[in-house]
Amino acid sequence: MADYSVVLLPGDGTGPEVINQARKILDLINEKTSIGFNYETIECGGKYFLETGKEWEEGSFERCKNADSILLGAIGWPGAIRKNGDLAGGEVVLGLRSGLDLYANVRPIKLFEGVQHKIHGKYRTVWDSKNVDMCILRENTEGLYYGALQRSRARSLGEDFFESPELDFPGLSGEIAWDPRPISENGSRRIVSKAFEIASKRNGAPNDKKKSVTCVDKSNVARGCQLFRRIFDEESKKYSNISTNYAYIDAFTMWLIRNPEEFDVVVTSNMFGDIATDLGSVLQGGMGMAASGNIGDSNALFEPVHGSSPKYAGKNMVNPIATINSLQMMLKWLGDTKNSKELVRISDIVHNAVSDQIKGRKVVTYDLGGNATTSEVGDDLVKRLKVLLD
Ligand code: IPM
Ligand code: MN
Repeated sequence: MADYSVVLLPGDGTGPEVINQARKILDLINEKTSIGFNYETIECGGKYFLETGKEWEEGSFERCKNADSILLGAIGWPGAIRKNGDLAGGEVVLGLRSGLDLYANVRPIKLFEGVQHKIHGKYRTVWDSKNVDMCILRENTEGLYYGALQRSRARSLGEDFFESPELDFPGLSGEIAWDPRPISENGSRRIVSKAFEIASKRNGAPNDKKKSVTCVDKSNVARGCQLFRRIFDEESKKYSNISTNYAYIDAFTMWLIRNPEEFDVVVTSNMFGDIATDLGSVLQGGMGMAASGNIGDSNALFEPVHGSSPKYAGKNMVNPIATINSLQMMLKWLGDTKNSKELVRISDIVHNAVSDQIKGRKVVTYDLGGNATTSEVGDDLVKRLKVLLD
């Protein structure tokens, strides 16, 4: 019996509801397979901060660090802002990304067969599922998030606070607020190298089945992007069987929607990746379908791309698939890193169960044109998995 420890961070708003569905699947794995998950839950987030003055209990960072993996629901609550303007709950999500050096934010954009998109208020299929299967890699430790990441990490670890250096901005007047956007050579190299590594294991872009990595930047304007692209070029030379493309972020957002079939792996800096993946979720059927993993060399945190949707909190309405697919990514990552064929098999089974459920269109939430509740989707998956795991 192999045992793995997992920290569950339900967080804010609809976070606890979607994490509960993932928990049902962990329980089923414990019951049906030789894999055992010891999970513990840590309360955290913006609402928790408003109630307690802390973003999570002391010692939580260490507990996350020592666990085999982490699954997060969502962070963010109306009015939950620290005195210095920082997001309350940032210590959790940004503190872990920075403090555990989870430099690769891996965000697959895959359209499951049967998904209907809500475009112009109507539910219909817009993209052919065969045409949407890419993976966006968002750099996760520097760029425009640098200041916020450093402050959140310092808070987590009880270190000195990060302050932006004093700078003159000739020509500007009145109060000036600014965020440094440092892009480093080594930070770029490790994310670009991860992108090529992921591309080498995938099946290429949907249109031509050719493996490719697209570098998305704004190197016609920003210096950090010029360095990022230079490192991209250097790294790409190591992979002669993977072709390369470039796109400026503004044009990329257009191609992403118009010609998603042209993209295989995309690598970009932190803020561009944040924005592009929310847009990319539309290709998948919305934020309820977008899963992600924050991956470092020794730790990883998996989470849906969506936020805490305060408006829907407690209503048992939101789509838990983004979280369940994040759990599926976690099972695969654990399987690969711990060398467990059984975990990889289970992750494939979870993927198949989700595919069948969505193709059936019967038990899907409102965002996909259905009327199932969050827990009905979770329960239906458990029912399917019970059969598949036998
Ligand atoms: C995301 C979220 C976070 C981010 C927030 C909650 C800080 O939007 O994971 O994409 O900006 O990275
Ligand atoms: Mn985001």
